[in-house]
Amino acid sequence: MEKKKVMLTGDRPTGKLHIGHYFGSLKKRVELQESGEYEMYILVADVQALTDNFNNPEKVRNNVREVVKDYLSIGIDPTKTTIYIQSLVPECAELTQYYSNLVTIARLERNPTVKTEIAQKKELFGESVTYGFIGYPVSQAADITAFEGEVVPVGEDQEPLIEQCREIVRKFNSIYGETLVEPQIMLSKEKRIKGLDGNEKMGKSLGNAIYLSDPEEEVNRKVMSAVTDPNRIRKDDKGNPNICMVYYYHKLFTDEESCKKCCAECKAGERGCVSCKKELSNNIIEYLRPIREKRAYYDAHPEEVDKILKEGTEKARMTAKETMKKVKKAMKLDYFNE
Ligand code: TRP
Repeated sequence: MEKKKVMLTGDRPTGKLHIGHYFGSLKKRVELQESGEYEMYILVADVQALTDNFNNPEKVRNNVREVVKDYLSIGIDPTKTTIYIQSLVPECAELTQYYSNLVTIARLERNPTVKTEIAQKKELFGESVTYGFIGYPVSQAADITAFEGEVVPVGEDQEPLIEQCREIVRKFNSIYGETLVEPQIMLSKEKRIKGLDGNEKMGKSLGNAIYLSDPEEEVNRKVMSAVTDPNRIRKDDKGNPNICMVYYYHKLFTDEESCKKCCAECKAGERGCVSCKKELSNNIIEYLRPIREKRAYYDAHPEEVDKILKEGTEKARMTAKETMKKVKKAMKLDYFNE
C-alpha cells in the first residue's frame, strides 16, 4: 500500500472556536479527513499558546479541552485523525533546541507574521520581546517536522511560518544529510469571514464572533445586533444589501432562492431588517444544531474527551520518537545506537 501523505495542522488553545475558524479551516480539515488520502494530525498548541500567555496559564489550560470539543463536534473523527497535546510530546521541544542553531536572530526578526504580532502585543512585551516568542517559528518547525508533515493547511497569516520551517529543513538536510521532510503549505481558498459588526476579522477580542458552541439565545442576540445599511432608517426605505452584514451572512447560511428574495425585497423597501435578521438567526441556529448537539454529548462525557486526547497523544509520541531517532543519528548524537 502506498504511504499516505502526512497532513498536520493545529490551533493555539486560547479560546473557543467560532464560525470564522469553521469556514476558514475546520470544514476543510473534515474534507481532507474524509478523503482518506492523508494521515491526519491535529495538535493543540499549548506550548505555543504560552509564548504570549505565559502569565495566564489557566487560560491555556482551560481552553485545551474546549478546542478539542470544538474539533469533535464539527466532525473530526478520532479514529481517523490523531489529536494530541503539544506539551505532552517533549520530542518537539528537543527538536526546537537543535533547530535553533540553524536560525539567525536577524531571520527571526524579519518574519512578517511574528513582527505584526509583536507590534500588537506591546502591552505584554513592552520594548523587548521574549526569546520564546520571537523563537516560536522554530518550535512550529519542530511541530511539523516531528511528524514528517508534508501538507500543512493553514491561513495566509501562517505562510511566513511555513516558509521558515522549509528553510530550517533545507539547512538541516544540507548539514546533516537528507533527514527531514520539507512541508508544503495548503492555503485555504476560503476568504476570511467578516464580523457581524462589519470588521474584516472575527475574533474574541473584537467581541464580534459567533462561537460554534453558542446557545440559541446567544446566536439570536448577536444576529440582532448585526450592522445593516445605515441609510435605511424606516422599514420601507430602499436598502443596499451589499453593505449589510445580515445579507453577507445570509449568503453563507441561507439557500440561494431565499437569499435572492431577501435581496430583492430589501432593495425595494418591502422588508424590514428585523424580519431579515430573524430569518438569518434561525438559519444559523439550524446550521449549528448538529454541532451543538454533538458538543453537548462531549460536555456530558469529559472522560471520553480525555481518552481521545490520551490515546492521540500516545500515538503522536511514537511517531515523534521515530523522527527523533533519525535526527539524532544524523546529528551524531546516537551514542549507543539506540
Ligand atoms: N501557529 C498556529 C496558530 O496560531 C498553531 C500551530 C502551532 C500550527 N503549530 C503548528 C499550525 C503547526 C500548523 C502547523 O494557530
